[in-house]
Amino acid sequence: MQAMTPNRQHANEANRSMELLTRIAKGWGQRAQVKQHEPDLRYDPERPDFLEKLLPFHMHPLYQALDEHTKRQVLAAGWIIYNEKTVAIELEIVSPACQDILYENVPGLDNEWAKEIVCETLVDEAYHLLLVKNANRLTRAHRDLGHIRVPQFALVRQMQQEQARHVADWAPMLVRLSTAVVSEIFISDYLHQLSDEDSIQPLNRATVAAHRHDELAHSKIFAELTRNFYQALSSAQRSFFAETLPKSIHWFADKELDLWLDVLQQLGVRHAREMIEDCREVNQVALDRVDYSGVVRLAEDVGILDTREGLAAFQRAALI
Ligand SMILES: [Fe+2]
Ligand SMILES: [Fe+2]
Repeated sequence: MQAMTPNRQHANEANRSMELLTRIAKGWGQRAQVKQHEPDLRYDPERPDFLEKLLPFHMHPLYQALDEHTKRQVLAAGWIIYNEKTVAIELEIVSPACQDILYENVPGLDNEWAKEIVCETLVDEAYHLLLVKNANRLTRAHRDLGHIRVPQFALVRQMQQEQARHVADWAPMLVRLSTAVVSEIFISDYLHQLSDEDSIQPLNRATVAAHRHDELAHSKIFAELTRNFYQALSSAQRSFFAETLPKSIHWFADKELDLWLDVLQQLGVRHAREMIEDCREVNQVALDRVDYSGVVRLAEDVGILDTREGLAAFQRAALI
């Protein structure tokens, strides 16, 4: 059998990708959570709001020595932070990346089928904001946490610092796109930590489960979009994207200890600084807590790991 030429192979890939995305787009009406009933907004004050094992300092003796009421407040703050991370991802990363596609700033995605699925994704993300903002409002009211302010996430800060570091006019767009791809692949795993959890507030579980349902489709969508735009990038842009992708994984996996210190101090938790500084010594990035195999697989599929820069960047980041 004759081997396919690279051009022909790319054309076949693009067709397969377009068919898959068109199929996902057509199923949106049945799949999207915005078209279903909203979760029941009843609140059970007896149930904890969050899982202790998701607090980055839960093993610390100073945390374990706290009284039960303070621990409940810290758990409620953990839930608020968890939701605010979703808000930051939607507002600062995914929605702006979708807008870049709709404004035709992303090579390879300036076509109607990409725009259709991106518009659906934006509707989903707006609905997720409604879900998590409702949940946070109720939690703040029931736990008397209306005064807690959540500072900027290291995920967003590090992405913005990287955007400011480069001179090429396309660099900020590609940094955001890389972070959006990583976030959209990771977020279902992030949400899975709570979506089946019976011990917590039923409303919280239902909120996360509804969100995750949409995100399972989004991770496929962003993987396919990546296949399409990566092929259309210039060689300088490809190298840049390959080097940014592993950085985005590290930003997502950051344990957000500075943010936690700020919130624990707002809650008046004793020895908060000591607790957080001890955790910082262990490690700032919890790569063991996120499943990054999907991003590595994607990098392999699109050919990033076949390039010298891509392979070196993933190795430097200790991801392969
Ligand atoms: Fe979302
Ligand atoms: Fe999403």
